Amino acid sequence: MPPRQRFAVFGHPINHSLSPRIHADFAGQFGIDLSYEAIDAAPEGFKDAVHAFFDEGLGANVTLPHKAAAFAMADIATATATRAGTANVLTRLGDGRLEAHNTDGDGMVRDITERHAQDLRGHTALLLGAGGAARGVAWHLLDAGVGTLTIVNRNPVAADDLADAIGDPARAHTRYWEDLHDIGSFDLIVNATSAGTLGGGLDLPVSIVGSRALCYDLSYGKSAAGFVGWARGAGARYAFDGLGMLIETAADAFERWHGKRPDTDPVYRELRAIYG
Ligand code: ATR
Repeated sequence: MPPRQRFAVFGHPINHSLSPRIHADFAGQFGIDLSYEAIDAAPEGFKDAVHAFFDEGLGANVTLPHKAAAFAMADIATATATRAGTANVLTRLGDGRLEAHNTDGDGMVRDITERHAQDLRGHTALLLGAGGAARGVAWHLLDAGVGTLTIVNRNPVAADDLADAIGDPARAHTRYWEDLHDIGSFDLIVNATSAGTLGGGLDLPVSIVGSRALCYDLSYGKSAAGFVGWARGAGARYAFDGLGMLIETAADAFERWHGKRPDTDPVYRELRAIYG
């Protein structure tokens, strides 16, 4: 029997990761026998742990707080990872080189436009945050056709850096966090801050929620509960967490590694039943 193909997800902490379960479900759809483990690596040990894994491993997902380090250590990077400056997928290529890729933006847009059947074209969009997660989705929002993208970050320098990197001043621009209360309302609000994950709350005015607003948190479960609850209370028409995004990003990684496109709907239904 050939050895089982090894895959993994790296994070810190990683004990609650859904990725092993999602990849096992996908593999089951095709009768693929694989090993997919969750590896907890502290930042100082991340690079060595990845190299050790890739002595045998074929592919790895990367989550907080390692996405920038994953991009930096790779031998080559896809265009999507390069513009984000972060990676959530590492793949050992046939020639032994390590490739960085980022599936976050595609996964988010597919979750919104296909699973939730929402058309983003022409939307006025507000992106909260300008860190790795925000960089992973900003360009995809523009590609999906939002009319404008207003980037607001607690630290305005990071927001300006992101807007400069996008280089489309007619559509993508920044405002100060302090201006949120008189900035007007938006059709789409994406929470790309790590406030929920870190256990902090966001103090957001309800006035930013437009009458047909879709509010979306890139995280899921407890981390997203504060923002999603706030959005519902503020009258958003739709308020979604990023569980579907997580599953879509996993499907993209799976297809990259196995050349097969898994059906994400049964996995979404199963996990949604658990995560409410
Ligand atoms: P990630 O990979 O999750 O994006 P990151 O690169 O560290 O992690 O970025 C975290 C983002 O969440 C940043 O935009 C950060 O704002 P600052 O650049 O001002 O630090 C934002 N963030 C974290 N906690 C926040 C809070 N309590 N309020 C507002 N923004 C917060």
